Amino acid sequence: MTIENKLIAGVQDAVKSLYGMEATAQQVQLQKTKAEFEGHLTVVVFPFVKAARKAPEMVGEEIGKYLVENVGDVVAKYNVVKGFLNLVISDAPWITLLNNINADEKFGFQAVTDESPLVMIEYSSPNTNKPLHLGHVRNNLLGSALARIVEANGNKVVKTNIVNDRGIHICKSMLAWLKWGNGETPESSGKKGDHLIGDYYVAFDKHYRAECAELAQQYMAEGMSAEDAKEKAKQESPLIKEAHEMLVKWEQNDPEVRALWKKMNEWVYAGFDETYKMMGVSFDKIYYESDTYLEGKEKVMEGLEKGFFYRREDGSVWADLTAEGLDEKLLLRSDGTSVYMTQDIGTAKLRFQDFPIDKMIYVVGNEQNYHFQVLSILLDKLGFKWGKDLVHFSYGMVELPNGKMKSREGTVVDADDLMEAMIADAYEASKERVKQTEMPEEEAREVARKVGLGALKYFILKVDARKNMLFNPEESIDFNGNTGPFIQYTYARIASILRKAKEQNINIPAQLSTFNFQLSTKETELIQKLNQFPVAVRQAGTDYSPSGICNYCYELTKAFNQFYHDFTILGESNEELKLFRLSLAKAVGKVINLGMGLLGIEMPERM
Ligand code: ARG
Repeated sequence: MTIENKLIAGVQDAVKSLYGMEATAQQVQLQKTKAEFEGHLTVVVFPFVKAARKAPEMVGEEIGKYLVENVGDVVAKYNVVKGFLNLVISDAPWITLLNNINADEKFGFQAVTDESPLVMIEYSSPNTNKPLHLGHVRNNLLGSALARIVEANGNKVVKTNIVNDRGIHICKSMLAWLKWGNGETPESSGKKGDHLIGDYYVAFDKHYRAECAELAQQYMAEGMSAEDAKEKAKQESPLIKEAHEMLVKWEQNDPEVRALWKKMNEWVYAGFDETYKMMGVSFDKIYYESDTYLEGKEKVMEGLEKGFFYRREDGSVWADLTAEGLDEKLLLRSDGTSVYMTQDIGTAKLRFQDFPIDKMIYVVGNEQNYHFQVLSILLDKLGFKWGKDLVHFSYGMVELPNGKMKSREGTVVDADDLMEAMIADAYEASKERVKQTEMPEEEAREVARKVGLGALKYFILKVDARKNMLFNPEESIDFNGNTGPFIQYTYARIASILRKAKEQNINIPAQLSTFNFQLSTKETELIQKLNQFPVAVRQAGTDYSPSGICNYCYELTKAFNQFYHDFTILGESNEELKLFRLSLAKAVGKVINLGMGLLGIEMPERM
């Protein structure tokens, strides 16, 4: 039984025996004792005052006395401040608690069983016409952290991705490559495939804009207003017309277009894979829009037959959501082609065929809030049991401070460039800190990778996902304060203490038994902090909040550093106390590693 449960049961017994009151466990409110009072845990006595018919102070005294007499193995002392009964927990239960934490490799995690609900989490979902950028970084980090957190809460998790591999955007890249590529490949150019295709997308855009400007001039010379001329030019540009023709050919399964499309997409996927690998994210099942968009049409026709949707005179199919306070939503165009919403319906259908989904979480930027509001209603109407309660995990924009790291396109920050720069910065920062001779080059590179990426991940994940944010590389890599490297550094310090203990042939017992010393508040507080890890994991799972885990790791790290500042570990002369402190440090290291692991952040053994 945990300390808390013993206390709750103790208080229930106390009020029964003292006042004949049958208190529920919920009526026993336990809080962490405020710093200005002596104690670890505090019982709020007000719920028992009525039954006792005594002043709150008196009730506190009586319950306190009862606890010391009856659960003396847990409660050493007490004091009462107004209606609050502050309890000092004796040393033994803390040691037991620490032993329990050390015995549980996956402390704080709930086991996944055959009966566990299945949660599917979609994240990343890029388009194949350009490389991943800073926005994708936030998406991927949030999505993969969420997947780990949801799994740690005892759910089966399927990580998924929907790749938008078809449509006008990819045709633009294809066309540009045909026109100006001279057969360039990732091999011949030495470029990553996604960057290569991205460059052709940019090239298309450049030529398209030049063409539009020229055409608009011509129309204006013929007497058209500037605005009309611009609009007409956009439609009439031979380049865009050609791209549209290509899309039509693609839809008609033209072998040449399909072969080119396949080849170019393969290049892009090879590039994405590298980025994902570096970022430390992965997927259990990837869906492709080219496979799902036709499925959506079928589902919509089904809905039309059942009368959920209606057809307009021009042949287009719509959902009327005015009753739900939304508008009318187009599902199939008059020419029968599908739109974004239709594709999402098709994807949902395939996914549900593949997995018995109980809960679906979509990690997608907040510019699509309305889309997912509508999707939820449509899926519900179409009979998906998880449609109504689907979660759109909506997140805000992320930008770099002005002037920092212009990407190859000059507008968005490329994910590969960003990660590379972070790792290089971490390498430089550690060069300044550690003498070069202390670490072999290979290890220094590996540490820089962990620290650079750790800085990036932590900085992004610590922010409430809904908020827009600025990613500041310099701040993120600071070794002090609320940063990944600060936590990593503390972890490395613990690892170093444990290494030294080993060198001194100190054997830290898996379980502490006898002890002949008194615990200090800093020590019991640290154990108490450790004990809050399972609560933090649960809370992060309920709130879908990776930032809650960041916060917990930071608090734990601070508590450890305070303890470490005040006490010596290996220098302690009382051998039992030394073993206790080593054991405590070991537990902190483990929990930091578990917590940061949920965020996808790796811990260096040395720094
Ligand atoms: N590829 C889309 C985009 O870049 C995001 C897809 C989000 N997921 C979804 N199921 N609609 O905007």
